[in-house]
Amino acid sequence: MNRVKIAPSILSCNFLILEKEIKTAEEAGADLFHIDVMDGHFVPNITIGPMFVEAIKKITSKPLDCHLMISNPAGFVNDFINAGADIITIHIEADTHIFRTVDVIKQAGVKAGVTLNPSTPLCSLEHIIDNIDLLLIMTVNPGFGGQSYISSMDKKIRDARQMIDATGRTIDLEVDGGIKATNVKRVVDAGADIVVMGTEFFHSGDYKKKVAEIIKILK
Ligand code: DX5
Ligand code: ZN
Repeated sequence: MNRVKIAPSILSCNFLILEKEIKTAEEAGADLFHIDVMDGHFVPNITIGPMFVEAIKKITSKPLDCHLMISNPAGFVNDFINAGADIITIHIEADTHIFRTVDVIKQAGVKAGVTLNPSTPLCSLEHIIDNIDLLLIMTVNPGFGGQSYISSMDKKIRDARQMIDATGRTIDLEVDGGIKATNVKRVVDAGADIVVMGTEFFHSGDYKKKVAEIIKILK
């Protein structure tokens, strides 16, 4: 099996030195960058938009993983495609016509992800699972970094892994929210292959050391 991918969430980085943060994280071994887009409507917080994605694209060769926590994602996917997103993930709770939106993303050559809030059941994916490239399981209620992992999500990750394996297709299983050195093993044992880390990564003070610690724990 390939090594689990570490996706630092730039939500927790120091925006005053964004370029340095991205480059240091990349050198430390970040596999991709998780970009949290919030609109103050779907979630109770406002963050960043396509202009940021376009700027970050210029300073890293790592994939940009855009997590859209916004109402009406269909109205904005083209902006993120044009900004250089490599993965665009939309919330199933926020989009009425998921097949159409997933098609638009894939037609542009971008990976299409779908995500579920912690309380949204996996069965809501039944008809779309064969069309997606990535499934993101939220392990906190989205909106803020630094929240605690909801422990009942272990089973959801395990069930999601089974669901993906049953398709026989390659679908990345990403997990987001409250992931730390102390719980990364249980999340990966449950079947995750991309782990998002915000506070754990960017507040660690030494990104290289943090990546080495995570890799060692997962060996
Ligand atoms: C939460 C965001 C997460 C967040 C993770 O709404 O989707 O990506 O940045 O941060 P931590 O790792 O601190 O929970
Ligand atoms: Zn996120």
